[in-house]
Amino acid sequence: MPTSTFAFSTSEEYFPAARRELVDEFGQRATVERLGPDIGALTLRDGSLQELAEACRTRPIAFVKHLTEEIARIPLKEAADLDAVVRGALAAVPRDLPRGPLAVQAWVSGQNPLEFGSADLFRALSEALEKQGFSAVRSGAAFVLSAFITPSGVLLGLGNPADGLSDWPGGRVRLARSPRTISRAEFKLEEALKVFDLTLPRSGTAVDLGASPGGWTRILRTQGLKVWAVDPGDLDARLLSDPGVQHARTTAGNFFGTNKARFDVVVNDMKMDPKLTCDIMLTAAGRLRPGGTAVVTLKLAHGNVADAVRSCLGQLRRKYDIRHARQLHHNRHEITVVAERH
Ligand SMILES: C[S@@+](CC[C@H](N)C(=O)[O-])C[C@H]1O[C@@H](n2cnc3c(N)ncnc32)[C@H](O)[C@@H]1O
Repeated sequence: MPTSTFAFSTSEEYFPAARRELVDEFGQRATVERLGPDIGALTLRDGSLQELAEACRTRPIAFVKHLTEEIARIPLKEAADLDAVVRGALAAVPRDLPRGPLAVQAWVSGQNPLEFGSADLFRALSEALEKQGFSAVRSGAAFVLSAFITPSGVLLGLGNPADGLSDWPGGRVRLARSPRTISRAEFKLEEALKVFDLTLPRSGTAVDLGASPGGWTRILRTQGLKVWAVDPGDLDARLLSDPGVQHARTTAGNFFGTNKARFDVVVNDMKMDPKLTCDIMLTAAGRLRPGGTAVVTLKLAHGNVADAVRSCLGQLRRKYDIRHARQLHHNRHEITVVAERH
């Protein structure tokens, strides 16, 4: 039976959780090798990138951030010569790959053992591909050539953005701070909207649980939603003059005990044990309209986080369909779940 190898990106800390999820999913068909702190290779018997991506999206496999199908590995000795890496890449790119825009995404896993970096690699690959009739871009193309510098050499992969799970090198989404940014936490919601291609309603009311200082509330306002911001803590002064924001200075439990409003969207970034977060989300479901969207971060403790995530998702499924669950680039010790009220 044929085998294929796929490179998967994860966070360094949660590599064991990603490995566990993949082995649980594919059993005897799979072997996993760690190539760098935050990159692994999954060799799958009789499997495709599409099947793997579908499993990551729907099971879900939460600790895999990015995927590509391996087309070449250039060992460290040979990879010391950038020209040799470029030659290896050109030889590995399928001859029938349609000419036109091709995304080139280069990154480094851990300490770079080579004298060139990801920017040099991007430039050299792009120039060589241009000569072959491709127009090299950073994202937004039908195909992506990934080039990962790892402690053991350079790995080259080919895929498409949908099956890659993210159209950013290794899933490392870069978002810029603006003068309007309230908190770093707001990048988590911004990233979820981008990576999962979420469309929130352009009007209606959202409740933001654990809102302080108000980054997520700000993002919800930019989407056109009125917001109940629930948190015993303070909101950023810029939100206080906004008539579209109501601050309930209390805990989420008290809020649902006293306030009977109904919502189109529920978001929850509370710093709390994930099981308790899910309990609150089940209460919130009683106030969310059917089909309404929920976005929640589940804070991870130590130990078997893959099992903890599975158990939390099981809890949420009592009232929600899980649409996405993934550790995003801007998540630290947490994952982001997107769900829809039954
Ligand atoms: C990570 S911060 C939220 C950051 C926010 N999403 C932002 O973008 O600015 C976590 C918040 O959860 C709040 N929190 C913890 N337990 C809570 C509870 N039971 N009810 C409401 N908020 C709670 C904390 O007060 C804290 O402000």
